[in-house]
Parts: sequence; C-alpha cells; structure tokens
Amino acid sequence: MKKKLLIALLCTKIIQTNSVFNNTQAIVLAAGGSTRFKTGITKLITPICGQSMVVYPIKTIAELIKTITVVIGFQKERVKKAISDAHISNITFVEQAEQKGTGHAVLCSQHTWHAENILVMNGDMPLVTSDIIMKLFEEHQKHTAAISFVVAYNIDPNGAYGRIVEDDNGMRIVEAKHFTYTITDYPCINAGIYLINREFLENCLETIEQNEQTQEFYVTDLVEIASKNDVSIGILQVPFDTIRGVNNHRELANTEKVKKEQLIDHWMKNGVRFFNPETIQIDINVKIGAGTTIGAGTHLLGNTTVGTFCTIEQNSTLTNATIEDYAIIYANSIINNSYIGEYTQIGPFAHIRNNTIIKSHVEIGNFVEIKQSTVDEYTKAKHLSYIGDTTIGKHVNIGAGTITCNYDGKNKHKTVIEDNAFIGSNNCLVAPVTIGESAYTASGSSITENVPAKALAIARARQINKEGYDKKLHTVK
Ligand code: UD1
Ligand code: CA
Repeated sequence: MKKKLLIALLCTKIIQTNSVFNNTQAIVLAAGGSTRFKTGITKLITPICGQSMVVYPIKTIAELIKTITVVIGFQKERVKKAISDAHISNITFVEQAEQKGTGHAVLCSQHTWHAENILVMNGDMPLVTSDIIMKLFEEHQKHTAAISFVVAYNIDPNGAYGRIVEDDNGMRIVEAKHFTYTITDYPCINAGIYLINREFLENCLETIEQNEQTQEFYVTDLVEIASKNDVSIGILQVPFDTIRGVNNHRELANTEKVKKEQLIDHWMKNGVRFFNPETIQIDINVKIGAGTTIGAGTHLLGNTTVGTFCTIEQNSTLTNATIEDYAIIYANSIINNSYIGEYTQIGPFAHIRNNTIIKSHVEIGNFVEIKQSTVDEYTKAKHLSYIGDTTIGKHVNIGAGTITCNYDGKNKHKTVIEDNAFIGSNNCLVAPVTIGESAYTASGSSITENVPAKALAIARARQINKEGYDKKLHTVK
C-alpha cells in the first residue's frame, strides 16, 4: 500500500517536472581560458571530490532539462572528454573559437536555440542544486519575466563577482574589475545563472556592446538592457555557498570544503562516524555502511565502497577499494583497486594494489605489500612481506620477511601457495613456483623448485658450528 502511494507521488513529481521544463533548454558556458587558475590547463576538468568541476552543473541541470548545449573553446577536447566520460545524455557541444566573453559564448550557441526559455549557466559553479533552477523558474513565471537571474549576499571585498547596482539609471550588474563604488554598499552578487525568454534573448544579445577595457561581451549586460527596456526582471536570492564560483585555487579549496562537508554530513546521517572530519578527503562516488568509523586524515577516493561496522584507521588511502563488513584497515595503509573480505584485517602500513582479492578472515600485517594476488580465507601474512602475482589458498601462514621473486628482469611469473601451507620466515619464493597443500618451507629458504604437498622443503646451507673458534682467533692475534 505504502509502496503504491510512493510510486503515485513520484509519478506526479515526474509529470510536473516535465511539464515545467519541456519549454526550456540549457546552455552551459565552458569555453573560458581559466587564466586566474595559473596552471595553463582548463580549470573545468579539475576534480572536486573526484568529479570534474564542469560535470556538476551539467548533472544538476540534466535532472530537470532534457536539452543541454555546452559551449567549449579553450582546451575543448579536454572539456569534452570530461563531460563525455560522465555519460550524461542529450549533450550538444558548440564551439566558441575565440574567447570574447560570456555574452559572446551565449551568442555562439544561437543555432541551437529552439525552446521558449533558455537557462544559461556558468560551468564553474559546482555547488549549484536543482532546487535553485526550480525556484528560478517559479520566479520567472510569477513575473512573466524577460530575464530572471540568481543572486546571493557576499560582502567579501576581494570577491571576483559581478555586483547588482540599482539606482536612478535602473538595474545593472557591474563586474568586480569595473567596480568603482564601495563594495560593502553593494553586497548582492550575481551568481552566473540566468533564465531568459528566447525572444528577448534573440532581440537583445547582439545589442550587447564590447567592453572597452576588456574587449569582452558580457552576458550580464542583458540585465541592464532589460531594465532600460522596462521589461520584467525576476530575481532569486540563494545562500552564497550554493553558487560559489571557482576561478582560482583559494576558491577551489573553499568550494571543495563545502562539497566535502555535504558528503560527510550525508554519511554521518546514515550512521558513519568520522574522527576529525575536516581532515578527511572523500569522493562523490564513495559509499560507506552504517556503524563504520573513519579515522582522521583518511582519503576515500574513486569508487571505494566500505561495508558496515568497518574500522578504517587514520591516514589510510583507499582508491577504488571494496571493503566488506567488519573489516579493519589499520593506520597508514594504502589500498588501490582491490577487494577486502569480511572480518579481514589489514595493516598498519600495508600496501594492497592492482586487483588484489583478499577474502574473509585474513590477517595482513605491517609492512606487507600485496600486488595482483588472491589470498583465500583465514590466511595470515603478518610482517614485512612482498607478495606479487600470487595465488594463496586458505589457512596459509606466510612467515615474516617472505618475498615472492616474481620478476626475472624481463617477465613476471606466478607463485601458487596451496591450502594449509606454512612458509617459514625469511623465504624467497622464486617464481614460477608452487608450494603444495599442507607443505612446509624452512625459514631462510630460497625456494626455486615446486614443493610437493605435505613435504618440508629446506633450501639453505646447513649450519656448521666451529668449536673453539674464539681461541683460534685469539692465537692469530
Ligand atoms: C561571471 C559573471 C559575474 C558573476 C560570476 C559568478 C560575466 C561577465 N560575469 O564572472 O557577474 O558574478 O560569473 O561566478 O559573465 N566563459 C566562456 N567564454 C568566455 C568567457 C567565459 O565560455 O569567453 C565561461 C567560463 O569558462 C566560465 C563562465 O563562462 O565557466 C564564467 O566565466 P568567468 O570568466 O569565470 O566569469 P567570472 O569572472 O567569474
Ligand atoms: Ca567564474
């Protein structure tokens, strides 16, 4: 019964959403040169919590609007790839060959205009939410506006934003670089999101004049044009944190901080404990189960999934890792592209990488590196080992200081250690080699040949004790 009601409610929401946004298309501006970023690389592909900056506003728009045009120019192939990799449907790219400002960027998309309203949005605002677009649309409709835009309050005197000025000459947006008034008298800033009636846009866009100082055409001039023509303007005020723009590395850090807090809040609400949450790095696709604790300074990256009631101790970095329920990752461990089973313990200072699969109830201890290997249930490798290209069975004991010698200088070779085998301390297992089921190797052995099941292999020089050696040395002196 409850389920039916939920489906009915969802359907209503979808129908409402479609009917509102069917007459709207979106243009995302992503052609700019990123000069304030100072890296020579377009800022729009910079990952923020693991996702390219430009993908955020596009995904947000795609929740509501079917047709999206992205204007690309500076390093267009890089921007295009970042967007294509995100697999968002119905994206059309248009090129702004020369970056002559945001107004010019909008003009470059003119051949794609068809809907009644056009949503124009900067590509460098990763915190924007679909709720803002909905509310802007409501504002636009309420006032039957020619143009509606989003503003926020931000007194920051060094801010790079355009500010809203309203006086006897009407309303206009004055860019930070041209601002000659006292900034604190004008705390209302332009967010970079505009909903524009297509007819108004078609009539006015070409009347925007090139700014004398910068030689750019500003999309923001549409507000002054609307004001001068006495057509209705809609304004939506939202919290500054939702519309932060990223032009430089300070703004990048501030914006990512907000995004990270949102992600951490989400997981806290779902029962995850974070120690010193401000020290944690977390990506947007990470998933964490209830009852899990995450230590300070931990990085959870890529498509990492952590199960329920796990402990991830401080300063560990997990990238594309799958950690099953009740596992413990002790401090300072690194896990890349690998799987850790239930109740398994890893670290401290362990390095697990390259598609390693460690099944349940395994204990991997300090200073152990495991690469491209499979370790079956209840096996232990607790101290100072390198395990590479190896298949290890169940209930195996790997002695301290065991090294699989998997590389002959040209090729990599495989080691197989079968169930219940016991590898003594300080062994070199020279691959390719197989240690049979329930076999033993003596400590200090260099194993170069297969060991049959249940056998003991001793591969080291036999000890010789020379009696009275001390006296002999004394005599020589
Ligand atoms: C812009 C607004 C400013 C607003 C701020 C909000 C203008 C003139 N100013 O300033 O009022 O407060 O955003 O963050 O619009 N772009 C192009 N082609 C170009 C230039 C820019 O596609 O020729 C793209 C950029 O890649 C970027 C977006 O447009 O995604 C905004 O450009 P940016 O240079 O960052 O504008 P701001 O100076 O931040
Ligand atoms: Ca900007």
